[in-house]
Amino acid sequence: QPTLTVLGVETSCDETAAAVVRRSADGSTEVLSSIVASQIAAHAPFGGVVPEIAARAHVEIIDQVILEAMRAAGLGFSGLDGVAATAGPGLVGGVMVGLSAGKAIALARGLPLVAVNHLEGHAVSARLGAEIAYPFLLLLVSGGHCQLLEVAGVGRCRRVGSTIDDAAGEAFDKIAKAMGLPYPGGPALETLAEGGDAGRFALPRALLGREGCDFSFSGLKTAAARMADGVTDPTDRRDLAAAVQQAIARQLADRTAKAMVGYARQHGPGERRLVVAGGVAANREVRRALTALAQAQGFLFHAPPLAYCTDNAAMIALAGAERLAEGLSDGLDAVARPRWPL
Ligand code: KG4
Ligand code: ZN
Repeated sequence: QPTLTVLGVETSCDETAAAVVRRSADGSTEVLSSIVASQIAAHAPFGGVVPEIAARAHVEIIDQVILEAMRAAGLGFSGLDGVAATAGPGLVGGVMVGLSAGKAIALARGLPLVAVNHLEGHAVSARLGAEIAYPFLLLLVSGGHCQLLEVAGVGRCRRVGSTIDDAAGEAFDKIAKAMGLPYPGGPALETLAEGGDAGRFALPRALLGREGCDFSFSGLKTAAARMADGVTDPTDRRDLAAAVQQAIARQLADRTAKAMVGYARQHGPGERRLVVAGGVAANREVRRALTALAQAQGFLFHAPPLAYCTDNAAMIALAGAERLAEGLSDGLDAVARPRWPL
């Protein structure tokens, strides 16, 4: 297998991103550049991502972001072996922008195109920062997704649990909004919770201890939003935020513990690895809960560097490179898919 240098493009939500990743024959990876242009400021006045605004913002900046990624990598397009672009799931107007840009470069330069599933990007993201072998158990927690997956390689993911209502990041964002915190709510809520006493507010412990690996956050969301109405004192607000954060972290750890039991039945000690990915993996309380769980269960624990937890194009480039290494690529007729389960 030769070394592969791949341009990745990501436009499925509110970040316009491009990156160049090099994958060596031995499977090791190097991020040559990773550019992320956030649209947070454009959406903040609306308290959430507005799809039409997102798509237009991607169109305005995508060329610049791609050229900047190439320049930062010190490469011309002739230095590439392939182009990978997110083809879904996500806001389809935005997905079409990045996918079309990727197709244009692939066509003009005669390069193979890989239409990448955004979730597969998150699934491989931890491999950008460390050499983590397959297989591993993955907790994927972002604004749009909350799943537990057994990952044996690109294209070889098996879902063992998912949310029956909101995603974990969505719960963070909605509760933060109810508490009057700015968008995006997850990081704001984490900051507010610092030093808080999580024991002062009793929140519903959804599904805790129950069978299966599915998640549910709607009960917590409703209860926390109702409590938030009457809480104005700064110390009380801090403690409520800490309680919310702890409740979410506990549920994530509890469901992951269930999945570990099933995983350990099929995989020996040498393969017991837990990886967390997605924007919520940036949360320190969540990392703490998962670190403790992994230690107790005899799993190695990996979390990607923060820059690769939230949406980025390096993870898309790596998923593309791993697919190309396996001889997989897509036609220029690849379509943008709003929904695309792994
Ligand atoms: O992976 P991501 O950037 O985009 C999606 O694919 O959804 O994840 C964004 C989500 C948002 O819901 C955001 O509030 C949450 O990740 N998030 C956090 C933190 N940083 C980002 N949630 C809790 N604590 C954080 N520090
Ligand atoms: Zn994402």
